[in-house]
Amino acid sequence: MDKLYEGKSKIVYEGTEPGTCIIKYKDTATAGNGVKKEDLPGKGLLNAKISNLIFDYLAKNGVKTHLIEVLDETSVLVKKADIVMVEVIVRNVAAGSFSKKYGVPEGTKLLNTVTEFSLKSDELGDPMINDCQITALGVATQAELDELKAVSLKVDQLMSELFLKCGIKLIDFKLEFGRVDGELLLCDEISPDSCRLWDAETDEKLDKDRFRRDLGNVLDGYRDVLARLEQAI
Ligand code: TMP
Repeated sequence: MDKLYEGKSKIVYEGTEPGTCIIKYKDTATAGNGVKKEDLPGKGLLNAKISNLIFDYLAKNGVKTHLIEVLDETSVLVKKADIVMVEVIVRNVAAGSFSKKYGVPEGTKLLNTVTEFSLKSDELGDPMINDCQITALGVATQAELDELKAVSLKVDQLMSELFLKCGIKLIDFKLEFGRVDGELLLCDEISPDSCRLWDAETDEKLDKDRFRRDLGNVLDGYRDVLARLEQAI
């Protein structure tokens, strides 16, 4: 298979049909823009399974995604998209960089859902960027940004409901989108690598913060998330 791109946690290959790609999940965990890096055997499989379940659930609820077919335990066939070079971050509860930047204790419920954009650039460390700056740079149009925000809020509502059924609070998450034939599609993955997920009763972290903060038993959290999702869906 022709490799198109190798990222920190996934490899993208040319697909078998025109207009398709194959994404393979890796076991590598990274944090701090790749500064902290470790192999966690089994992570790729867990993230692939979790992301596939969530993408399938979102598609059934009217969200357009790039996913065509699950190929095996760590690979999916997707539509080849022109990736929008911004990440959308959605926050329901203060945590992570938001808590640090604005001096708000982690766990503080936000009065409204926050959407943020960051420019996709490893070189620059994915800096936060606003609508005006994005349109000025020609990265996306205002109409696209409005749609990205609306779809991301719908995803937030759907995922918050799903995770609540699992006894999990959806604190925040990151989404990526791509353009295919003039349509915006949800791309990349949704997994404990890209979401903050806390146990609803105990606030125990079940996501990549276990790795970022050296809390230990990283994949036990991911396994717990998968088991609860499989029960709920
Ligand atoms: P942050 O608090 O570090 O800004 O992260 C917010 C959410 O976005 C959190 O769930 C982790 C996710 N995220 C990614 O998936 N990739 C990234 O590169 C960053 C910065 C955050």
